[in-house]
Amino acid sequence: MRRRFKGIAMSSLAQKLTEIMEQAFSALELPKENARVQVSGQVEAAQFQCNGAMPSAKIARKNPREIAQNIIDQVKHIEIFEDISIGGPGFINITLTDTYITEHLKSLLKDVRFGIPSVEQGQNIVLDYGGPNIAKAMHVGHLRSSIIGDSLRRMCLHAGYNAIGDVHMGDWGSPMGMILSELELMNFDGDITMEMLAEIYPKASNACKEDKARMALARAATHKLQNGDESYTKLWREFIDVSIVGMKKNFDALGVHFDEWKGESDAHPFIDDMVKDLRSKNIAIDSEGALIVPVAQDSDKKELPPLMLLKSDGAVLYGTTDLATIIERKQSHNPSKIIYVVDQRQALHFEQVFRAARKSGIAPEDKIELIHAGFGTMNGSDGKPFKTRAGGVMRLEELISMAIEKAQSRLNEAELAKDMDKAERASVAHKVAIAAVKFADLQNNRSADYIFDIDRMTSFEGKTGPYLLYQAVRIQSLLRKAHVQGDIICEEFKITDGDRSLALLLSELPDHFASAMKHYTPHLLCDYAFKLAQEFSSFYGNCHILSEKDEALKLSRLALCQQTHKQLSLMLEMLGIEIPARM
Ligand code: ARG
Repeated sequence: MRRRFKGIAMSSLAQKLTEIMEQAFSALELPKENARVQVSGQVEAAQFQCNGAMPSAKIARKNPREIAQNIIDQVKHIEIFEDISIGGPGFINITLTDTYITEHLKSLLKDVRFGIPSVEQGQNIVLDYGGPNIAKAMHVGHLRSSIIGDSLRRMCLHAGYNAIGDVHMGDWGSPMGMILSELELMNFDGDITMEMLAEIYPKASNACKEDKARMALARAATHKLQNGDESYTKLWREFIDVSIVGMKKNFDALGVHFDEWKGESDAHPFIDDMVKDLRSKNIAIDSEGALIVPVAQDSDKKELPPLMLLKSDGAVLYGTTDLATIIERKQSHNPSKIIYVVDQRQALHFEQVFRAARKSGIAPEDKIELIHAGFGTMNGSDGKPFKTRAGGVMRLEELISMAIEKAQSRLNEAELAKDMDKAERASVAHKVAIAAVKFADLQNNRSADYIFDIDRMTSFEGKTGPYLLYQAVRIQSLLRKAHVQGDIICEEFKITDGDRSLALLLSELPDHFASAMKHYTPHLLCDYAFKLAQEFSSFYGNCHILSEKDEALKLSRLALCQQTHKQLSLMLEMLGIEIPARM
């Protein structure tokens, strides 16, 4: 069966058309890069368009319409075009025959990867996201990193990479010494709890800010810990473990997964040798008592300060652990890429670390790609960083409860999940809440700031997570009513005016996925998922499905429904959003 389609390597229709156009461009000795075919911006005029005649005409010093005609003459004999003609100054407008669209659909339905190619086997990618800090309550600042990072991990997995998510906790810097010295001042000996840590850290941190002597104690404690002091290490381990329990609770509620629970401290065993090596190569140099790695380059427009490796008291810094963590990751995973999903405001830090990693040979350019996938700030409706009503930083736990409460009342308003028992209702509300929060975050280009608006994001209307869940559940229930079990085998699609645009949209998935992977931007998947849900909604409104009398057309439409559901589910899965069985 598969053989029949062997000639048509699965990809999107736009990609297939691009390949055809590339041959035409080459035959006419026009630049192949101009041959790209894309989905038409004007659906009334055509399904696809190629805009390459204009730039090619410039180079060939010819009339663009004439060039367009030459290109069309090369391909018009191929029996896939319903219409191929020139529009405006030289656009090539393309409309495919329903037979060809049908042929494509058939192969699409048989492909479990929906036309997405897989990367070469055995490539590891480490994704660094979440980044919560020990002893501090997780707050909304950690939300974006977790949501975006987890989505990128899922995308990388789907692309065929061996993707490893690492939480990279902040567990080694000066706050550790602040807590240790505070515990010592309290003469503490008992069991450490999360509540206690949440109280101690701000207290210690304030005390250190106000009192130099107190700060000196904290520094000394950090130093002792970093040098392996036994009793400090034991106490530190205790509060790390307590903190991790709290973090896991939050990440579980969010449905964010990590493969590794490592932290800055895991870089520690590599630091001494790294420092020695960089010193001996003269890459790290002494400067006013500290050890630094100059990273400025002649081509810099702005001055780039050096990366600090060691403070004058020998303490290590954020940049030191990040650099040594690359060595640790090379040893444990030999990754071809490391993606850091961290606040855009840390861009300078990562530029310094990456340059130091290149310069020192820790991460040679041709071996490891280093990417800072930065993100903007989550703001409140006042346009300033999101705060609680009282003006404080909102804890992640509070935010999740708030979203669940809101989802519950939205379900009530929409009269959904009515006949369920309490447990199922609660589980649906949880899924709706997480879908709302994640989709609201992911639908923005990650580098942009966005406004956290709980009312808007939980609505069942508009471009929201709950709307997508609603559409997915609606297809599920339709398929249930049709008694569809397993995969629908539809050999003959029937395409009418009502089905065509859904069929075409389904074929676009590989293009959207490729763009999202290229720029590490899940919002492109959000756009596609939303379009798909909307298109399905009009298809559902305009076409008879279960009530269709023509059995072949009914089967064909059910197959489209099932395919839409599969693709929507895949998009949501990659966004980290779970669909309830019913609603
Ligand atoms: N703990 C850091 C913070 O709260 C984020 C860590 C990001 N990852 C990294 N490798 N630096 O800002």
